[in-house]
Amino acid sequence: MPIHTRNRANCSVFALFLVLMIFNPVSAQSPVFACDVNANPALSGYGFCNSSLDVASRVGDLVKRLTLQEKITFLVNKAGPVSRLGIPAYEWWSEALHGVSYVGPGTKFSSAVPGATSFPQVILTAASFNETLFQAIGKVVSTEARAMHNVGLAGLTFWSPNVNIFRDPRWGRGQETPGEDPTLSSKYASGYVQGLQQADGGDPNRLKVAACCKHYTAYDVDNWKGVDRYHFNAQVTKQDLDDTFQPPFKSCVIDGNVASVMCSYNKVNGKPTCADADLLAGIVRGQWKLNGYIVSDCDSVDVLYNQQHYTKTPEEAAADTILAGLDLNCGSFLGQHTEAAVQKGLLKESDVDKAVSNNFATLFRLGFFDGDPRKLPYGGLGPKDVCTPSNQELAREAARQGIVLLKNSAGSLPLSPSSIKSLAVIGPNANVTKTMIGNYEGTPCKYTTPLQGLAASVSTLYSPGCANVKCSSAQLDDAKKIAAQADATILVMGADQSIEAESLDRIDLHLPGQQELLITAVANASKGPVILVIMSGGGMEISFANDNAKITSILWIGYPGEAGGAALADVIFGQYNPSGRLPMTWYPQEFVDKVPMTNMNMRPDPATGYPGRSYRFYTGKTIYTFGDGLSYSTFAHNLAKAPKLVSIPLAEDHTCRSEQCKSVELYESNCKNLNLDIHLRVKNNGNMGGSHTVLLFSTPPSVHNSPKKHLLGFKKVYLGSQMEDIVKFKVDVCKDLSVVDEVGSRKVALGSHVLHVGSLRHSLSVTV
Ligand SMILES: *[C@@H]1O[C@H](CO)[C@@H](O)[C@H](O)[C@H]1NC(C)=O
Ligand SMILES: *[C@@H]1O[C@H](CO)[C@@H](O)[C@H](O)[C@H]1NC(C)=O
Ligand SMILES: *[C@@H]1O[C@H](CO)[C@@H](O)[C@H](O)[C@H]1NC(C)=O
Ligand SMILES: *[C@@H]1O[C@H](CO)[C@@H](O)[C@H](O)[C@H]1NC(C)=O
Repeated sequence: MPIHTRNRANCSVFALFLVLMIFNPVSAQSPVFACDVNANPALSGYGFCNSSLDVASRVGDLVKRLTLQEKITFLVNKAGPVSRLGIPAYEWWSEALHGVSYVGPGTKFSSAVPGATSFPQVILTAASFNETLFQAIGKVVSTEARAMHNVGLAGLTFWSPNVNIFRDPRWGRGQETPGEDPTLSSKYASGYVQGLQQADGGDPNRLKVAACCKHYTAYDVDNWKGVDRYHFNAQVTKQDLDDTFQPPFKSCVIDGNVASVMCSYNKVNGKPTCADADLLAGIVRGQWKLNGYIVSDCDSVDVLYNQQHYTKTPEEAAADTILAGLDLNCGSFLGQHTEAAVQKGLLKESDVDKAVSNNFATLFRLGFFDGDPRKLPYGGLGPKDVCTPSNQELAREAARQGIVLLKNSAGSLPLSPSSIKSLAVIGPNANVTKTMIGNYEGTPCKYTTPLQGLAASVSTLYSPGCANVKCSSAQLDDAKKIAAQADATILVMGADQSIEAESLDRIDLHLPGQQELLITAVANASKGPVILVIMSGGGMEISFANDNAKITSILWIGYPGEAGGAALADVIFGQYNPSGRLPMTWYPQEFVDKVPMTNMNMRPDPATGYPGRSYRFYTGKTIYTFGDGLSYSTFAHNLAKAPKLVSIPLAEDHTCRSEQCKSVELYESNCKNLNLDIHLRVKNNGNMGGSHTVLLFSTPPSVHNSPKKHLLGFKKVYLGSQMEDIVKFKVDVCKDLSVVDEVGSRKVALGSHVLHVGSLRHSLSVTV
């Protein structure tokens, strides 16, 4: 979504005044809803207002009462009103990426609700590798959203989460995503969506709020060396599309039952995604059976007409997108051009009916047509339920669980407050507030900065060292002086939205400006251990710090949310044993020197020297890799149960029974109940209790250019010091051991699949 708003030349001062009168956020105290039978008893006779009818009948009843012009007002985000039927205007666009957000006109903060709980930016939450947490955060966010809805401050339709694959470290929006791995991204997508949407009682016909997985698909270039998302044509192979870019969306729809998918700005293989009938009607609605609506990114339809010149006329753009399966346009384009498209015969009224029916069905499931929400389930929620102590504690817990320990020399972390009497806290991010919450943010309940978090336990000396993260000239003297005095030094460095953001991709991976100089000089001058803390969305070129013996520990804290400083202190002082793992590879600078951001290929190409992308394919050197992360304890893994052989049942006349086959197609009959149990004994050999994520990877046989390694699943367990437990995985042979072939179909590779957990290896032979 762009945050820009357009100036409308025809918008008179008078109209603006009226809008302000109607939508004044501060005086807004009552929610918007349809079917207010108390105010208008005649409405109770309408089928669409009758909540004992099913959703499909109510939708049918409503659509039948609307004129074409009225229907068209429900094709855009500023929808309605239809006053004669008691339907108020509804604003579809709200956001809740990691907390209720003010980005999007549907949600506002006011004196009644001045802030909402601001969780870590998604990339850090993903680093927790904890599915329970993904869902728990979603649940808190939707409770706060409903509470704000009841006082007229929030909508019911939230265009979150962003589940695009973090394909390239330069991407400014990588921070919003769950990282580079399709399996982790899929689990995050379905977990967070379920947390947001699931109605109390679990009725699938009801939604607590409606989530939206975006941006479909292969969208991950914002603005790089003059290539912007409005013009970028992503050239994607069928194989990469199916085994990298699509899985999070598929899981979001199928496992998460999401109520919406948003198509992106970019083209995929020459076609704008919002006009691609194969991608929308074919896959999202046809194969995956979306129960909900497909929405365009904001002004996407306008972009494909005016900037991409995809159609000759605006009416064709309206018709092409609706016929491709688009239901709702963020923007005004479909409101302006759909009627003419119908008049010209490019589109039938029944096509418009289909689109608005999907939109209305979502509003019915949300209870929008059931009268005053304060009398319905969630009606008891209000300002008292936002920013509660337990919600804010979950924000702190999420940050603790995500923080990744990347380096820790003996005797460095955790610091003991009894022997460390003073801390030098240095760096442009050492005392930041808003930087901690990243983008698609809301107003948080409060902030605890790193300095404030650390100062709660020991006395601190503080020097920012640079005026801001751009650090055009480091001020070394003061920083070196306090580092030489204090018992330990914490450097909080990294990025913010001036370095990586929506519409802003990076050019290189180095820490900005003179940050490296500041770090090296401070490390050299320090009396005690030196802990480098990187606050950022994307990975940074910090080999210099990894190799510097004076820098005894390195932590990555993403953008850790409102309680980030408290969580950091919990980890540094050992109140929490770090358990986060990197959800993306940290590449050295040479990677971006060699690889254009616009090359979408995941797989390496030996002919051109292209190294490929992500831990699944990349062949070059890394600084850190996907899944890296240390603990204050060490954990040992042993196999407790794992088959060595699995054979796939095939029909007698199957060619693979007589010939040598490298892989077999998946058929339901082959795949039924083909599950394997992998059990691992995991032991905490350390002196400190802690959580540990078991990552189960597999290296498939080398057929079909398959990944060198891919994540089958993960489980996070808590183990007390010297305790052990059995961690159980169920491996679905067809789903988990299959690979996507060159033309995009899934096959089970025959031969030896090597399973990895830590340094443990186990070979599993798959035969027919
Ligand atoms: C609502 O629908 C139910 C089920 O068809 C019907 O029995 C009831 O009379 C309807 N209520 C009104 C007010 O029309
Ligand atoms: C740290 O930031 C907080 C919040 O902006 C501010 O109130 C405080 O004065 C800052 N502390 C120092 C030492 O600058
Ligand atoms: C490190 O500090 C020593 C003195 O403590 C100084 O002689 C040396 O030049 C410093 N090195 C760097 C790289 O700053
Ligand atoms: C996963 O997250 C939940 C929710 O915060 C937490 O209760 C649980 O302890 C976490 N699991 C582990 C193993 O840390």
